[in-house]
Amino acid sequence: MKVFSAVTFVLLVACVRGESAVTDGLSVEDMLDRCMDGRHHKTQPGPEGSLYNQCAPWKDRACCRASTTEQLHQPLWLNFDWHHCGQLSESCERHFKQDLCFYECSPNVGPWLVPVNMQIRNERFAGVPLCATDCNRWWTACKDDMTCSGNWGVSWNWTSGQNTCPHGAECRTFQDYFGTPSNFCRNIWNGSFEVVDDSAPCFTQWFNGTNPNDRVARLRAEEIVSARGGAVTSASAPRLLVVAIFIAMGLAMGLDFLN
Ligand SMILES: *[C@@H]1O[C@H](CO)[C@@H](O)[C@H](O)[C@H]1NC(C)=O
Ligand SMILES: *[C@@H]1O[C@H](CO)[C@@H](O)[C@H](O)[C@H]1NC(C)=O
Ligand SMILES: *[C@@H]1O[C@H](CO)[C@@H](O)[C@H](O)[C@H]1NC(C)=O
Repeated sequence: MKVFSAVTFVLLVACVRGESAVTDGLSVEDMLDRCMDGRHHKTQPGPEGSLYNQCAPWKDRACCRASTTEQLHQPLWLNFDWHHCGQLSESCERHFKQDLCFYECSPNVGPWLVPVNMQIRNERFAGVPLCATDCNRWWTACKDDMTCSGNWGVSWNWTSGQNTCPHGAECRTFQDYFGTPSNFCRNIWNGSFEVVDDSAPCFTQWFNGTNPNDRVARLRAEEIVSARGGAVTSASAPRLLVVAIFIAMGLAMGLDFLN
């Protein structure tokens, strides 16, 4: 009984938490002033005197620190080995570094944050609209390089402390694993990006000067708030009810699960 109720407790909490988006209840400005809750991210975006090498474009307003940008240019940032099927080409590696700068530094992903439960972070971004041109360049740089996975977000053997190819996962070209640029950009990080036509509001990982993604994030944040309309309270009511029922259950069980 104790084990059962402890499990129920965990599942219920996960369920209640899982339903809520990180953006719930946030104003447009709050969504635009957020950094991902990750191991190396700052709590809020702000200026950095200078950022290292490929991360420099984010220096005016960044979620990363200078030290982070220097370290992520070294191998095995977050214990992740890009070269799991031999060395990536230099141009492909440059794109993955830029993507890493975006991951650590971008102050624009607030509207796309969702909760996750991982060692390296409590949030991830999902479905960030990447411009087709950006995606195509990344793909062109990498398509003839080798990998053993069509989803770098999930399919690894981490036993050794860094990602290695699990038994049976063959090293083949990106072309073989992903087929098309949009499959590649969508699946490489388990749905972190989706690819949209350049004529729609979309993100680029490459820019100089003013961050062009600011405008795109604001549009999305405004969309989220206006879609909410007056439904905020009624949308959170069922969740509160679940919590209330659950607390009542817990009390009825004499809080067994806490023992
Ligand atoms: C994972 O790697 C370890 C060695 O680090 C190996 O012993 C194990 O068999 C591997 N498991 C899979 C599923 O590949
Ligand atoms: C991968 O994406 C799926 C679908 O969005 C999600 O359910 C899963 O938790 C994700 N896995 C990781 C490790 O991010
Ligand atoms: C940014 O500036 C660098 C150096 O001048 C240049 O090589 C690069 O093409 C520029 N990138 C963009 C996206 O404008």
